[in-house]
Amino acid sequence: MNKTVVITGTSSGLGKATVERFSSEGWNVVATVRKKEQLGVHAELPQVKTLLLDVDDETAATQFAVDAVAAFGQVDVLVNNAGYFQMGPLESSSMEQIHRQFQTNVFGLLALTQAFLPIFREQRSGVVVNIASIGAEGGYPFTSVYSSSKSAVLTISEALNIEMLPFNVQVKAVMPGQHATRIFSKIDGPEIDVEAYRNQITAFFDHIPESGSDSSVVGDVVYAAATDGRNNKVHYYAGPDALAIPRMKRILGIENYWEEFQQFALGQPSPLWQVLNVPAGDSPLERIL
Ligand SMILES: NC(=O)c1ccc[n+]([C@@H]2O[C@H](COP(=O)([O-])OP(=O)(O)OC[C@H]3O[C@@H](n4cnc5c(N)ncnc54)[C@H](OP(=O)(O)O)[C@@H]3O)[C@@H](O)[C@H]2O)c1
Repeated sequence: MNKTVVITGTSSGLGKATVERFSSEGWNVVATVRKKEQLGVHAELPQVKTLLLDVDDETAATQFAVDAVAAFGQVDVLVNNAGYFQMGPLESSSMEQIHRQFQTNVFGLLALTQAFLPIFREQRSGVVVNIASIGAEGGYPFTSVYSSSKSAVLTISEALNIEMLPFNVQVKAVMPGQHATRIFSKIDGPEIDVEAYRNQITAFFDHIPESGSDSSVVGDVVYAAATDGRNNKVHYYAGPDALAIPRMKRILGIENYWEEFQQFALGQPSPLWQVLNVPAGDSPLERIL
């Protein structure tokens, strides 16, 4: 029997590319979108069933897991991809924005994972791949809320990796670098204008390229994480800019790394940083602040 993967947030970007990758490998795919008009997004692909799911609705998770199993008879892999980007100086974000960011990126992911764990535990097999971000491994300024939500996703993955080991269930996290998706055209930006940060914001973003890697890079890494059979590996990096971060930490040591990173984030990257840092791919971004 062909294996089945469930992938959330597949209307565009990394989720869509991941659907395409699994489908091209002959997998059955249960893909989710949150708007009725997006239900046809994978119509050209064989063995893909697209269902509606808003991960913010925690009460929908259990029934969704039942529906997902019913779609092809079994689920082997869950890819928690749905998410969005809230950014701005912390002072400029309302508490409502902050709660909303964690609702989607963290609580929604937790509720859905909870719904699938008993299924994987009872069948003594399964893989959960959570899409975190390279921001999970060291906060970028003006993304404290987003980055901390992704740190939570990474830490959840690490803890669950061990928790589920006796049941032959693997849990992994993918840390993508900057990828050219619609995420940057849908940023939930500052609600409160705090002029004092203006120069610092400009200095930081002057050093962030307006390009990113192709979404297929993440599709490939997620597929590898789901199929490599390694229950002792949690951290997967996608894109050259993401791969560079753990390498720089190893070369510089954690304290020197932070000093170098701080200078870069203040808009004054050292010559050493400029040598060690690697840009993302060159697909143009739709928009960055
Ligand atoms: N692009 C990057 O550079 C990058 C880097 C690191 C990590 N990531 C992570 O990668 C994941 C995918 O992002 P992307 O870059 O591919 O952006 P994207 O093109 O905007 O795709 C995000 C997907 O998540 C869906 N989504 C958002 N909120 C949802 C909710 N409450 N319930 C269900 N679906 C929801 C979106 O649906 P709608 O179409 O309805 O909005 C869309 O299908 C996110 O978790 C993001 O944080 C992206």
